[in-house]
Amino acid sequence: MFAKETYINRRSALKKSVGSGLLLFLGNEESGMNYEDNTYPYRQDSSFLYFFGLSYAGLGAVIDIDEDREIIFGDELTIDHIVWMGTQPTLHEKAQSVGIRETLPSADLKKYIEKAVAKGQTVHYLPPYRAEHRLKLLDMLGIKPGTEQPSIPFIKGVVNLRNYKTAEEIVEIERACDVTAEMHIAAMRALRVGMKECEVSAALEAVAQANGCALSFPTIATVCGQTLHNHYHGHTVKEGDMLLVDAGAETEMGYAGDMSSTICAGKKFTSRQKDVYDIQVASHRAAVEALRPGIPFKDVYELSCRIICEGLKGLGLMKGDPAEAVAAGAHAMFFPCGLGHMMGLDVHDMENLGEVWVGYDGHPKSTQFGRKSLRLARPLEPGFVLTIEPGIYFIPELMDYWKAEGRFTDFINYDKLEAYRDFTGLRNEEDYLITETGARRLGKYVPVTTEEVEALR
Ligand code: GLY
Ligand code: MN
Repeated sequence: MFAKETYINRRSALKKSVGSGLLLFLGNEESGMNYEDNTYPYRQDSSFLYFFGLSYAGLGAVIDIDEDREIIFGDELTIDHIVWMGTQPTLHEKAQSVGIRETLPSADLKKYIEKAVAKGQTVHYLPPYRAEHRLKLLDMLGIKPGTEQPSIPFIKGVVNLRNYKTAEEIVEIERACDVTAEMHIAAMRALRVGMKECEVSAALEAVAQANGCALSFPTIATVCGQTLHNHYHGHTVKEGDMLLVDAGAETEMGYAGDMSSTICAGKKFTSRQKDVYDIQVASHRAAVEALRPGIPFKDVYELSCRIICEGLKGLGLMKGDPAEAVAAGAHAMFFPCGLGHMMGLDVHDMENLGEVWVGYDGHPKSTQFGRKSLRLARPLEPGFVLTIEPGIYFIPELMDYWKAEGRFTDFINYDKLEAYRDFTGLRNEEDYLITETGARRLGKYVPVTTEEVEALR
């Protein structure tokens, strides 16, 4: 945990920003995998962590701006809990460690909210993403399913704080990035032809565990990199394959790292792989060089897409004017996802609060295939932490679909593309902090170019 002043100051800034009413925070509960007591690894809600720092199940909190009260709700452990799971500080001790004096039993939270509703006080809450929180909210507020109205001022207040990382947060994020880098380097060293994907994921996850970290999201380690979020680990890696690894560590305090690499199965990439890989590296580098305060991330995305189209035109897979191809959306055949996203206490930071607030400052997102998957578009500001992850993917189902529909025949050479059906996909991903003058890569360097990757094989 940070010093209690950090949490006191964050709450005070949030109160100022929302102005009035009552802010309701629901901490996460344990969640059963297959029966109640066999739980998923515990993860506290990130906004609860940000404002209250406590990573224990069963807590709730209220910041009553109108009454000037901050209360943590929870229960003391029973002797059965202590015998089974060990002891913990008392609720009062936990609360004091984050600068809160008032604590009440869990059962009082519902009474507190009901009273607030009865006297017409505004109860602000964030969008729930767990079923039990939705049920709790409906019960406490006395409303019907589907009528929940998360508070926009609360969402904006949280986003306007969490989007700007402080120096002490950067230290934590950089530690997550250092461990993440070591995970990728371990994968580059471990991979051998004949291994199963799960053996590589085991080798890199061991690095996270050995450093006291959790995973910031389920590991991707796949020879089918054309599927953007492929979590299957059962293939055997063959000579000529590429293994796409996307994995990250999460520190004990909950801060994430998120990197991707693409590794040749054998000692070298094939020349066809190199040709496509080099285009992706050019796109990646151009995006990194463009990072600076004030530039809309949407422009960085457009630039990275254009470089991919220029490169693919050079290989004969695309034709026409690359800028026009990007404007029309033809690039999404090869790059159907975004260029990057905010990162912090969540790997996709605050995605549960809505990308429009986090990455678009309230402006609407495009609905065009490909462009709609861009999670971040707003002008960059010092303190933002984000990923850069352009990729090039050959998705046979998408090729067949667009070809059958006759889409973008001015920009895509479908006949040439046939020879790439089995290419799979590749990407590299790094994490950056926007500074006053530009950007700084976070974490130890991970080989990016084909030559750098081959040097580790
Ligand atoms: N690395 C996981 C993601 O960005 O979706
Ligand atoms: Mn990512």
